[in-house]
Amino acid sequence: MQQTEVILVDRDVPDPLLIERAASLIRAGQVVVFPTETVYGLGGDAMQPHALERIFAAKGRPYSDPLIVHIAHLDALALLVTSLPEQARRLAQAFWPGPLTLILPASVRVPKLVTAGLDTVAIRMPRHPVALALIRASGSPLAAPSANRFMHVSPTTAQHALADLNGRVPLILDSGPCEVGVESTVLDLCSPHPTILRPGGVSLEALQRVLPSVSYHAKENIGAEAQEQKAQTAPGQLLTHYAPNVPTFLFEGPIVAVQRAILAEIQRRQAQNERVGVLIADEDIAVFAQSGVHIYSLGSERMPEQLATHLFAGLRTLEEAGVQCILCRSFPTQGLGAAVHDRLQKAAGGKIITVG
Ligand code: TXA
Ligand code: MG
Repeated sequence: MQQTEVILVDRDVPDPLLIERAASLIRAGQVVVFPTETVYGLGGDAMQPHALERIFAAKGRPYSDPLIVHIAHLDALALLVTSLPEQARRLAQAFWPGPLTLILPASVRVPKLVTAGLDTVAIRMPRHPVALALIRASGSPLAAPSANRFMHVSPTTAQHALADLNGRVPLILDSGPCEVGVESTVLDLCSPHPTILRPGGVSLEALQRVLPSVSYHAKENIGAEAQEQKAQTAPGQLLTHYAPNVPTFLFEGPIVAVQRAILAEIQRRQAQNERVGVLIADEDIAVFAQSGVHIYSLGSERMPEQLATHLFAGLRTLEEAGVQCILCRSFPTQGLGAAVHDRLQKAAGGKIITVG
């Protein structure tokens, strides 16, 4: 156990002295929790194997899951990749800095702990001013997974990160809630066709405007066991990657049928004295207002950015309210809705109820 210090850092004008305190820890091979526009990251020097070991240890994450390398300038690519495909150049120009991670051919200098032994490396340039300042001051790219314990929901506030990592990291930089709220989109540029491995903060539609050949195959709604088996062929694609500590059920289908099914499930569980939480949209509040459950609304169903921003806070808030199950409605999958849907599927870990 070590003392975890949380310090407030202004998002837009980060105090250079505070950034330098964090950067000196990074240079010394330590790890630091820092904000990005997507979720909080648990960062360490990507080129120091000892720092990488600390990241895996603090999270309780297996070495088989590769890390994303965060850069502040395109010059850093020379150290990290063997070549930069023309497609990568165009995407970087359009979306960096921002919530897009590109899978590129790894240079031999990238530590094996970063790539999990693959010959590719995941790279992104975040747009959060504190993240960029920290990378620059550290003088090295930062490897950073989301700053949660392995298998738990990603943190979108410093308090979420503290709840998971208190006593396991020396320092957390707190710049308030993350703007995007879901992790970066992971795009594989090393397969024959550019493929989204994880939907995230840059939508499929936006990527296709720059590179029409980008494709995304949403996970099928198959059982938990089959998913886990499939997951073993794709690192990091574990089904229950984002699960809250409470059993979570995702209801899919036409919204009126979904609302009706959730109400019936609430009654059934309340009859057994269960405390129930529901994760819904503003448009559903009236339907559940009288049902005696904990309600968390992610915002308007017509605003996927809003849903994404509040998703992880919603799961954690219900968890902390002490509910015994979380019942979620599904949301439209346009734009960032695809990422929201993917995270809800993972939170449910195969417990998906299709109605109507
Ligand atoms: O928004 C984000 O991406 C956040 C912030 C902190 O930047 N980071 C994040 O890292 O979500 P993490 O470690 O929780 O997720 C990284 C994902 C995993 O699904 C991992 O399998 C995938 O990226 N990944 C990393 N390297 C890869 C590679 N070489 N090939 C395929 N997938 C890779
Ligand atoms: Mg993660």
